[in-house]
Amino acid sequence: MNYRHSFHAGNFADLVKHALVLRLLADRQAAGPVTVIDTHAGAGLYDLSGDAVRSREAEAGVLRLMQAAQRPPAIQTLAEEVAALNAGEAVRFYPGSPLLVARALRPGDRYVGFELNPPVHDLLVEALKAHDRAGAVEGDGYALAEAEARKVKAPLVLIDPPFERPDDYLRAAETGAAITRRDPAAVVAVWTPLKDMETFDGFVRRLASAGVKSALMAEARLRPLNNPMKMNGCAMTVLNPPPGAEGAAREICGWVTAELGDAGARAEIWSL
Ligand SMILES: C[S@@+](CC[C@H](N)C(=O)[O-])C[C@H]1O[C@@H](n2cnc3c(N)ncnc32)[C@H](O)[C@@H]1O
Repeated sequence: MNYRHSFHAGNFADLVKHALVLRLLADRQAAGPVTVIDTHAGAGLYDLSGDAVRSREAEAGVLRLMQAAQRPPAIQTLAEEVAALNAGEAVRFYPGSPLLVARALRPGDRYVGFELNPPVHDLLVEALKAHDRAGAVEGDGYALAEAEARKVKAPLVLIDPPFERPDDYLRAAETGAAITRRDPAAVVAVWTPLKDMETFDGFVRRLASAGVKSALMAEARLRPLNNPMKMNGCAMTVLNPPPGAEGAAREICGWVTAELGDAGARAEIWSL
């Protein structure tokens, strides 16, 4: 387990993922109390004055978001969360999915985040300690999320692996499919990097062979997808998308590609 999200926190891919998760959460909350299950939770809170300075990914992501003169509503919500976390000061802290969700929970809602790496799990516990509706569990998020989803109705599930293992695409597709097969009211969002077309096509084929019949595919392509060694974009695949998800995905991926992408960057929003 070499992956450290602290290098990538607040990059363009986090913006796409977190803005859409906030929107999915708001949609789900409108229908009643919700349990949010986060298969790969990470540390929960990132200090951008650390590893992120070296990677410069936050500089090209959340710092640009916060400096933008205009933002569409779906990404404005994330900007407001980042501003609130930093108490209106310069952006030093960026929330991971656990803290972002925990701060948005309402009475009756619950969040559980799974994290395999023990030191990262300890950071997660610390990040969530002020939020009594949110909890952290150490262990393999794929298996534990399926078990957790069986205990509740209509959960919102985020599957966000580091993709450092070759079977992450397969396990992400199969876990999402298994959860929605058992509970057709569950909403599952899977984050994937976009490197080259063949890898992403393979993920889509795995979803189909795992029984997924329909999904919203929200792609933010910052560069042509022709280098398997480089993250050229990212995608959020939403199984059982609520009605507002497609419009929100267009706003979010549209803003990210227009403002943070190379010339020729584009958003692709389509349905499986
Ligand atoms: C991309 S980061 C998660 C970021 C987080 N979801 C967010 O948006 O802030 C992936 C995390 O998954 C953890 N991890 C790797 N394999 C895992 C597994 N099988 N189960 C749970 N966590 C895992 C890594 O240690 C890492 O912290």
